[in-house]
Amino acid sequence: MTTAMPGLPIGTSPVRAVGIAGSLRQASYNRMLLANAVELAPADLHIEVFSRLDEIPLYNSDVAETGDPPGVAALRDAVRAADALVLATPEYNYGVPGVLKNALDWLSVPPGTSGLEGLTVALMGASPSILGTARAQTQLRQVFVFTQSHVVPFPEVFVTKAHTRFDSVGHLTDPGATKIIRRLLENLVDLTRRLGRE
Ligand SMILES: Cc1cc2nc3c(=O)[nH]c(=O)nc-3n(C[C@H](O)[C@H](O)[C@H](O)COP(=O)(O)O)c2cc1C
Repeated sequence: MTTAMPGLPIGTSPVRAVGIAGSLRQASYNRMLLANAVELAPADLHIEVFSRLDEIPLYNSDVAETGDPPGVAALRDAVRAADALVLATPEYNYGVPGVLKNALDWLSVPPGTSGLEGLTVALMGASPSILGTARAQTQLRQVFVFTQSHVVPFPEVFVTKAHTRFDSVGHLTDPGATKIIRRLLENLVDLTRRLGRE
């Protein structure tokens, strides 16, 4: 029997998303950004944060052949049980930080049965610069072409000058940013419902 969540029509189960912040830093702006996204998510989107990125070893196909290391297995299980991915990425040297790319590389294999195919993806990112991870997010969009995942096209969430956008407990203080994140997450739900999980 289907039970309705408060605010949801009967028969509509929430979209389940895994949230990953691509930084290992405790005081990471992208961790804060993701935590804000969890709170800003609409009633029909549940974001479960995956916080074991530091347990994902560097990808090595020799290791992969003998089975997933525990951190990778946990990530794969979380993603396989989900309908969508919410990524908050930093930008390192105009690109995607290695820890995040490495996790996506693990998820992308074996091709054909990876957890990424058919998954919908919402991208956001925060950086102290005036471009707010625009270049890293553009690279991620290319990565998700190869994995056959569906990135929400719009809006793009670039939290620029990140050091000025959060209060002392990590809440976003910029109403423009919260509004655009809400819109992105609504669009994620909409795209996920329209496409379904392939
Ligand atoms: C190795 C390295 C390279 C960086 N390159 C960029 C960059 O290309 N663009 C940018 O906006 N910020 C860059 N930064 C600054 C990061 O945006 C900043 O450290 C940010 O706080 C990292 O995200 P986090 O707070 O989620 O850990 C770089 C930082 C490091 C450590």
